Amino acid sequence: MSGGQLAAILVREQQAFASARPQSLALSQRAAAHFPHGVPMHWMRDWGTAFPLFVHAAQGAELVDADGHRYVDFCLGDTGAMFGHSPPAVAAALAAQAVRGLTTMLPAEATPHVGEALAEVFGLPWWQLTQTATDANRAVLRLARAVTGRPRILVFNHCYHGTVDETMVVMGEGGRTLPRPGQIGRVNDVSQTVVVEFNDLPALQAALAAGDIACVLAEPVMTNAGMVLPQPGFLDALRTACTRHGTLLVIDETHTLSSGRGGYGRSTGLAADFLVCGKAVAGGLPCAVYGFTDDVAARLRRAEAAREPGHSGLGTTLSANPLALVALQASLTQLMTVANHDHMNRLAAQLASAIESAFRARGLGWQVSRVGARLEFGRGVPPCNGSQSLAAIDHDLEGAMHLYLLNRGFLLTPFHNMMLVSPATTAGQVTAFLSAFSDCLDEFSGLMGAP
Ligand SMILES: Cc1ncc(COP(=O)(O)O)c(C=O)c1O
Repeated sequence: MSGGQLAAILVREQQAFASARPQSLALSQRAAAHFPHGVPMHWMRDWGTAFPLFVHAAQGAELVDADGHRYVDFCLGDTGAMFGHSPPAVAAALAAQAVRGLTTMLPAEATPHVGEALAEVFGLPWWQLTQTATDANRAVLRLARAVTGRPRILVFNHCYHGTVDETMVVMGEGGRTLPRPGQIGRVNDVSQTVVVEFNDLPALQAALAAGDIACVLAEPVMTNAGMVLPQPGFLDALRTACTRHGTLLVIDETHTLSSGRGGYGRSTGLAADFLVCGKAVAGGLPCAVYGFTDDVAARLRRAEAAREPGHSGLGTTLSANPLALVALQASLTQLMTVANHDHMNRLAAQLASAIESAFRARGLGWQVSRVGARLEFGRGVPPCNGSQSLAAIDHDLEGAMHLYLLNRGFLLTPFHNMMLVSPATTAGQVTAFLSAFSDCLDEFSGLMGAP
């Protein structure tokens, strides 16, 4: 199959998308009078459709658009709705709190319960709340510097930890840190950020040996450049090297919460000095958390005592508002249950293995990687770092496949081939997806060979 055939499929699918969705089109045209490109947040344009789907309602694992089309949602708000859309426990807690105050800049009564639940689920004693995972990561980098008195941080090449300026970097020639391309109005100085490839233990050890790195900020499985699994022993060696060189280990579990109750670290015994989790942590309500050890807390108290009076530079007014607290409490105690994670893991494992079989049956050299309820498929062998993973992505082809599936009622995450299974996702929905996916592979397999 040629590039021309791909273009022809794309035209057909774009026409099918547009002609079946007059309401979304009308809403996007009307919204464009006041929102650039008709969307209230510019990422909402990135679905590869001529205009966005406007959402009427989202419930459980399903989404209904403004034209009444129903979709089985495997994107789940790019993780924010990992536990399903509007989980009843969270919706009820929000409804009860909504008439009792939305924001007060004082701790809500739920606060001690939330602290106890966070400690129980994630296994760290000390916690703070922010509005977003971006903000939690930004705070943790500051605190790690305060605790260690060191200026530099280390991240893995092609990581994403939110729009934290100093982590928006890539590795250039000779390992030099460069700003990630495409950033608008950028002024950030990235000279304090060291970048190495994931799974490159010698490079990591050499960087830490310099003794000037406050913390390593890492996802335990890279999930934002496709999916890159840690090689056996890599994370243990990372932990050991951090301890040896006095560097704090910050584990960002925002996406790897999919691993199981308490995230990847809890499931595998990887001990973090700081842990960050956002997106789904409060069932989809804007809220993120960061936790830390007794040792970090003691060192923070000393740093606090030594700092000059003034603004700490951390915190935002609406963080830890009462809605966030009650949503977090409901999520920690009623969504992050062993039973829910078991269901998600089991169904995602079945989905991953069926997708692998579908590739194998057609002789396609594609693979599936999985971390609990989250999976990612892609061309070639499982990548060992972010560069390899990105090199395997064919945006035109994969975008066309996503559109094909969307037109048949299945949503995948834009940008890459991520699928997430929620507690509300059913075996029937997975079976229906696999049938559409099989048709999709029949249509596209001529383009899915070597790049
Ligand atoms: C691992 C990780 N950390 C942090 C963030 C930032 O989350 P938010 O956009 O909610 O601030 C993301 C977003 O995709 C992420 O993938």
